[in-house]
Amino acid sequence: MRRISSGFLASLALSPYGVTGNPNFENERTVRQTYDVFEYIDPLIGTINGGHVFPGATLPFAGMAKAVADVNNPEEKQGGFASDNSDITGFSHMHDSGTGGAPSLGNFPIFPQTGCPGDIVDNCFFTKTDRASRRINGTVEAHPGYFAVSLNTSVHTEMTVTNHTALYRITFPSNSTTSIQNQTALPYSPLILIDLTDLPESRINGSIEVDGSTGRILGNGTFLPSFGLGTYDLHFCADFAGAEIRDTGVFMNNRAGSEPKRLKITPNGNSPPIPAGAWTQFEAPADNQILVRVGVSFIGVEQACRNAETEIPDFGFDKVRTAAEDVWRRKLSVISVDNTGVSDMLQTVFWSGAYRAMISPQDYTGENPLWQSDEPYYDSYYCIWDSFRSIHPLLTLLDPESQTRMVRTLIDVYRHEGKLPDCRMSLCKGFTQGGSNADVVLVDSFLKNITDGVDWATGYEAVVSDAEDEPLDWAVEGRGGLTSWKNLGYIPTDDFDPYGGGPFTRSISRTVEYAYNDFCIAEMAKSLGHTADAEKYRERSDNWKNMYKADQTSMVSNTTGHLNETIDSGFVGFLQPRYLNGTFGFQDPSLCSPLYNFTSCYLDQNGHETYEGGAWLYTFYVPQDMATLIATLGGPDTFTRRLSYLHTSGLLYIGDEQAFLPVFQFHYAGRPGLSAYFSHFYIPSQFNDTVEGIAGNDDSGAMGSFTTLSMMGLWPIPGQNVYLITPPYFLEVNLTSGQTGKVATIRNVNFDAEYENIYIQSATLNGRNYTKNWIAHDFWLEGGILELTLGKNESSWGTADEDLPPSSSTSW
Ligand SMILES: *[C@@H]1O[C@H](CO)[C@@H](O)[C@H](O)[C@H]1NC(C)=O
Ligand SMILES: *[C@@H]1O[C@H](CO)[C@@H](O)[C@H](O)[C@H]1NC(C)=O
Ligand SMILES: *[C@@H]1O[C@H](CO)[C@@H](O)[C@H](O)[C@H]1NC(C)=O
Ligand SMILES: *[C@@H]1O[C@H](CO)[C@@H](O)[C@H](O)[C@H]1NC(C)=O
Ligand SMILES: *[C@@H]1O[C@H](CO)[C@@H](O)[C@H](O)[C@H]1NC(C)=O
Ligand SMILES: *[C@@H]1O[C@H](CO)[C@@H](O)[C@H](O)[C@H]1NC(C)=O
Ligand SMILES: *[C@@H]1O[C@H](CO)[C@@H](O)[C@H](O)[C@H]1NC(C)=O
Ligand SMILES: *[C@@H]1O[C@H](CO)[C@@H](O)[C@H](O)[C@H]1NC(C)=O
Ligand SMILES: *[C@@H]1O[C@H](CO)[C@@H](O)[C@H](O)[C@H]1NC(C)=O
Ligand SMILES: *[C@@H]1O[C@H](CO)[C@@H](O)[C@H](O)[C@H]1NC(C)=O
Ligand SMILES: *[C@@H]1O[C@H](CO)[C@@H](O)[C@H](O)[C@H]1NC(C)=O
Ligand SMILES: *[C@@H]1O[C@H](CO)[C@@H](O)[C@H](O)[C@H]1NC(C)=O
Repeated sequence: MRRISSGFLASLALSPYGVTGNPNFENERTVRQTYDVFEYIDPLIGTINGGHVFPGATLPFAGMAKAVADVNNPEEKQGGFASDNSDITGFSHMHDSGTGGAPSLGNFPIFPQTGCPGDIVDNCFFTKTDRASRRINGTVEAHPGYFAVSLNTSVHTEMTVTNHTALYRITFPSNSTTSIQNQTALPYSPLILIDLTDLPESRINGSIEVDGSTGRILGNGTFLPSFGLGTYDLHFCADFAGAEIRDTGVFMNNRAGSEPKRLKITPNGNSPPIPAGAWTQFEAPADNQILVRVGVSFIGVEQACRNAETEIPDFGFDKVRTAAEDVWRRKLSVISVDNTGVSDMLQTVFWSGAYRAMISPQDYTGENPLWQSDEPYYDSYYCIWDSFRSIHPLLTLLDPESQTRMVRTLIDVYRHEGKLPDCRMSLCKGFTQGGSNADVVLVDSFLKNITDGVDWATGYEAVVSDAEDEPLDWAVEGRGGLTSWKNLGYIPTDDFDPYGGGPFTRSISRTVEYAYNDFCIAEMAKSLGHTADAEKYRERSDNWKNMYKADQTSMVSNTTGHLNETIDSGFVGFLQPRYLNGTFGFQDPSLCSPLYNFTSCYLDQNGHETYEGGAWLYTFYVPQDMATLIATLGGPDTFTRRLSYLHTSGLLYIGDEQAFLPVFQFHYAGRPGLSAYFSHFYIPSQFNDTVEGIAGNDDSGAMGSFTTLSMMGLWPIPGQNVYLITPPYFLEVNLTSGQTGKVATIRNVNFDAEYENIYIQSATLNGRNYTKNWIAHDFWLEGGILELTLGKNESSWGTADEDLPPSSSTSW
């Protein structure tokens, strides 16, 4: 029975006023409020504390244009802006969100000044260092499709976007004002510059020109990707409206002049790129505002101008902003929640997480100079190692059409570059962190009826290529060590691999990831009727066993950092390094956990056999065959104690994506209640609505997808047609399938927003008793009602062997 005493629906309607309310409530005496879900989207979450979130104006996926203010804090400027006290150096048009690599993009920033001291152009502030300005606290506004901030120059800059164009509305103080560095009165004659630079200062070549009569500035540059190989060329086209042109010119270093009207720069030895760009100066604008429209393109300046002119012909700021908001509302309208009793904070975590998961990958269709194709081209898969676990499964639910286009892109990358990417940004190959996890993304979509226009025959060829053919440079695609993988069944820690090159580390984590990649290929092979392949890859998916050392014990530090105070964890059997000759080596199972040398397992460090985590963590990574893993580790009780210990001992860092699955793996040991318990253990203590409210890098929205999926109550096992059931954080959640248009409802009975009743006592699916602790994608496709009756204590629901999720050893 559904109980609604009071409350309202947080769903989205297409009207700009948001929610329209639920007709079911008409006859009830309830407090009915309607509100706009945008109130619960805070793009500033994760803009400090290493979250690296891009909080600026963007469209979902479509946005090649992503406009925000850029700061100069080297630790926090990855996504452009940071909620700290650093200075702002400009406003730029393209960004990536949540990256763990170097700052990304941020090319061709503009910077407005009210006037130049003494009315001499040369006295304006041209270099990043000179023009860096304080923000005025409390003036930052961030909403879907919109960002604004005032600097202490008294200049207020707002921004919004279309697919390839950023539009800025700059409001100058109506009277004389302060200069950047001094309280000098300025003549009112605004100057707006464009700098041939980017956030990471990676520019190699650049050229720029300004039109003396229109003020239009065109330019381009060659830059480096932030976590990959090669270079990319980018072009822009900037136009102005709102004031008469007074003068134009270029600048280099901190000197400027009105002749010449163009410049070209090449690298100057090993020095950082020279500050250089162009400027347009204006007479005082009648209404104190100047609009700047910046189109971007990877093809050329002509296309950048065409993009800008077609997308924003009339500089109508409010119209562009409203259009952007409408796109967001439509995207998010597929979910609706009954938010009775749920705190504003948790609602904000939920909606903001969904929002952030929809910022990337970015649709660059029509903007790919690398090959001719009728297929879509998305970029900023940054990185699939982060996104395969929960972003893509969430997108499959929220926006299957975009997910389809992303899958088609991946297959097209394979067609034209010979391999699926593991990471890709700015048209370049990014670094591979573990397995060939695009295999998981493809198979996950394949199993979930993502079919529209997808050439699955080529998709299958692509994943088999990952498993069979080692590329020369497996640092950026495919897998290394494939000869050993096929002959020995693991990646030897001292592998002899003359067939290709890459960082010869991570033998343990690559082994478990390759094993799971092969399992996913096996599922696809089976479904396509490739029986022999299916058997071969299923067998290879057991390869994790070959690095398991049954008698390995683990001493752990009881207090962080004091390795002399170690205790025996009591758990035996861990993955360990293993050599070509078959003998095992040793890597302390807690190494690279927060308890022991946490940061010593990155790609740029040699020597360790696990990536961004330790053997403690990777020993749990057998999503294909948890039944065997649980038996191997001593049975369900010992496994449950070990997994709980992982969470409570300090061994697990929840801010990295491998930590997500262990939150829910209790399901496989017949303890679904503990998955719910640990989900609440981390949300909101580690994921909340503050600017520092993300535990790690958001990685294109990965952390956001973790919270949103956890709170929806169905955790997807990526690469399998399996969702683990836990109670949603809401009384009720609806999802309208973009694949079928049908509505799936997950409803809690005995819901309490204090989250004492988080244990499922019984469940029904469309009125029939449902005892399995997992459900397949059909639920979303076909719609229906999954009703969960909750209580304060764990129950026997979902605990019987036949109710556990599938494992390859028990149900292949
Ligand atoms: C923006 O791109 C999306 C696809 O990513 C497309 O559906 C939409 O029509 C584009 N908008 C415009 C105005 O071209
Ligand atoms: C603005 O806020 C920051 C904290 O984010 C603080 O350090 C700084 O002092 C504030 N500046 C002013 C002028 O209040
Ligand atoms: C300038 O304008 C600001 C706000 O627009 C106002 O607060 C200030 O008093 C004005 N200063 C002068 C000198 O007119
Ligand atoms: C700031 O302005 C004052 C006059 O108002 C002047 O004396 C001083 O030299 C200026 N300082 C700088 C750094 O420009
Ligand atoms: C950059 O643009 C200029 C024209 O402004 C053009 O001559 C030049 O070839 C372009 N460079 C690249 C790399 O596209
Ligand atoms: C979910 O959908 C059902 C059926 O369409 C509807 O009755 C219910 O009010 C919806 N609940 C929410 C939270 O939107
Ligand atoms: C999903 O795909 C399978 C296989 O193509 C098909 O049998 C099934 O009808 C599809 N389901 C839906 C709801 O479209
Ligand atoms: C362990 O080592 C730390 C740091 O070297 C030291 O401060 C602490 O006193 C030591 N504890 C014991 C029990 O020896
Ligand atoms: C196997 O190889 C490792 C690494 O080279 C070496 O340390 C070990 O002694 C070898 N074991 C045997 C039995 O040869
Ligand atoms: C742990 O870090 C310390 C300090 O950087 C280093 O001396 C030690 O070798 C590291 N241990 C391992 C196993 O990498
Ligand atoms: C640390 O030691 C204390 C006291 O012996 C014990 O109660 C606690 O469980 C230990 N912590 C871990 C993570 O083993
Ligand atoms: C919010 O999350 C951050 C990041 O995990 C954490 O450091 C902080 O303590 C949390 N704040 C609250 C109030 O829970």
